[in-house]
Amino acid sequence: GFYIGSAAAGGGHHEEQPYPDPFTSDQEYRKRLAAEFNSVSPENQMKWEYLRPERGTYNFGMADKIVKFARQNHQVVRGHTLLWHSQNPAWLEQGAFSKEELREILREHIFTVVGRYRGQIQQWDVANEIFNEAGQLRTENIWIRELGPGIIADAFRWAHQADPKAKLFFNDYGVESVNAKSNAYIALIKDLRAQRVPVHGFSAQAHLSTRYGFPGDLQANLQRFDDLGLETAITELDVRMDLPADGKPTEAQLAQQADYYQRTLAACLAVDDCNSFTIWGFTDKYSWVPVFFQGEGSATVMTEDFSRKPSYYALRDTL
Ligand code: XIL
Repeated sequence: GFYIGSAAAGGGHHEEQPYPDPFTSDQEYRKRLAAEFNSVSPENQMKWEYLRPERGTYNFGMADKIVKFARQNHQVVRGHTLLWHSQNPAWLEQGAFSKEELREILREHIFTVVGRYRGQIQQWDVANEIFNEAGQLRTENIWIRELGPGIIADAFRWAHQADPKAKLFFNDYGVESVNAKSNAYIALIKDLRAQRVPVHGFSAQAHLSTRYGFPGDLQANLQRFDDLGLETAITELDVRMDLPADGKPTEAQLAQQADYYQRTLAACLAVDDCNSFTIWGFTDKYSWVPVFFQGEGSATVMTEDFSRKPSYYALRDTL
């Protein structure tokens, strides 16, 4: 009943991560993704940018491949994501839609995507990163800005209708600790549950960096969501570090990283309904970290040539 997952790399962001799709090109990658994990999350392939290249078109190619791969390897899938401010296609962000049109675009998308994979997705990140650090709803989010906060409840209701068995989640980064952002989720979720909106889970991405230290109250923070009757999950764990000039982490850095991985898993295992623990890629070969965080890297549990780091063994020994 416990799921250890990895993001399934595939394409990456076209310009930022110009590697070929490892699903078709990298047998070693496929073999290890199948062997080491019982859950997978499409890293990009269910985002609007990938699924909806044009308004009238759905491109399910890569998402279908991942779902099929998971089924063949007896893995569950975390769906990611339906309502987000980032990685939306230009036709959506720059289109001049009326409120009615926008609402219908989202409704139709949710019914089509969630419906297509009905019964095959264990958890859906329905809403991703809706709050800023101050705990205010993000105005960069087109849906919330244009349609108001009520659209969040609608998204959960539509997803639930489209796949009544999928567990529906709020997902965010920077919510590992008790802080303004995680407090905002507590308040919102209480409110939605009082209105009987089908919200089932809260997940912390856990993109950690040794620069900022370990969020020591992670377990206590997850516990307060568990206390509300929610499932919790770790969905995108990686632990980046400042790389020395030669690009190779020191023993001490790898030991510190292993400690962060271990403590994150231990926190999840200690919370009753934290049953899903996903790392954001398992090999540095396809990690988003060096692309997005200048000077930082080595964030996953395996090197580029798939050799296991201390963090790999730390996770294995904690299970
Ligand atoms: C990242 C991917 O890893 C990259 O390949 C992509 O270029 C940008 O997005 N929070 C999320 C994830 O919810 O979807 C993000 O994934 C990382 C931060």
